[in-house]
Amino acid sequence: PRVIFIDAQENQFDADIAVGENLMQGAVDNMIDGILGECGGVMSCATCHCYIDPQWQALIPPPSEREEDMLDMAIEPNEHSRLSCQIKITEELDGLVVRLPKSQY
Ligand code: FES
Repeated sequence: PRVIFIDAQENQFDADIAVGENLMQGAVDNMIDGILGECGGVMSCATCHCYIDPQWQALIPPPSEREEDMLDMAIEPNEHSRLSCQIKITEELDGLVVRLPKSQY
């Protein structure tokens, strides 16, 4: 599936991410600046923070309590915030739009 990343300056980057892969790993593999994923996906860093475009939110299972807690440590979280390491790519997420935060620190 194709994922479209849009950074804070409205630059757009497309990435092909395999079904079953998590969004953080897919972004890192595609060298998307703005997703760091320093803890490797074990929910202890929040440097994989991103914003899911509202029209896609319903297709993604809601965050766990631990993810919610970690999101409080992200920079400028809002109601669309997610940790990208917790989002599993599925076939139906083809075309997913993900916005990148200004910074992860
Ligand atoms: Fe560290 Fe997602 S990669 S919380």
